[in-house]
Amino acid sequence: MKTLKAWSVLVILLLLGVGVFLVGGAYNFAADEPHWTATEALIGYARHRSVDARAADITVPGDLSDPARVAAGAEQYQAMCAGCHLAPGQGSGAMRDGLYPRPPDLTDHGIHDPRSAFWVIKHGIKMSGMPAWGPSHDDETLWDIVALLQTLPDTSESQWENLTGGNGEHGTTRAGRQHGHGGSGHSH
Ligand code: HEC
Repeated sequence: MKTLKAWSVLVILLLLGVGVFLVGGAYNFAADEPHWTATEALIGYARHRSVDARAADITVPGDLSDPARVAAGAEQYQAMCAGCHLAPGQGSGAMRDGLYPRPPDLTDHGIHDPRSAFWVIKHGIKMSGMPAWGPSHDDETLWDIVALLQTLPDTSESQWENLTGGNGEHGTTRAGRQHGHGGSGHSH
């Protein structure tokens, strides 16, 4: 009975403490102040587990190494992703540097599993800068991007320029893609 009372007092004090912390605005939401190392490790771990669990049942298309897919993915990546995740030969940018968590450099870091990468690209990541691209792009397009990501760490700056039409904006490889599957005859 005595210990029960002691526990109740402890729980009430703890809840009060949490209340004062939250209401008092003590938690710093600033993007230029990192989490504690332990908090960051915990969130990172939870995120990896969450993504891997949800991505486990995804079926990877057999033709991810098809150059037509990679080329189509490069165009998408240059237009939508490079500003945050960098491209071969591209230095960092103001937006990327100010984001927290900092978007990983995918030209260096690559992806560890195509299914998880697909899931993250399709659904995005809560409370980070990573948008969900599923609402605006079909799965085939997202797989093109995954195909590109697999090759990105091995892509040189000049290869990148060839892939993206050399001007850093929309190149030419997108052309036939809108109406079908890149005219490669390989996809589906
Ligand atoms: C506004 C910035 C921003 C844009 C644009 C963006 N991302 Fe991200 N992305 C992030 C951030 C931030 C993270 C890391 C989130 C975290 O650590 O929890 C991330 C994470 C990822 C990851 C997971 C990496 C890993 O190792 O866990 C992949 C894959 C990814 N993004 C791909 C893409 C692709 C492909 C595009 C374009 C279609 C894109 N991102 C566009 C900010 C962005």
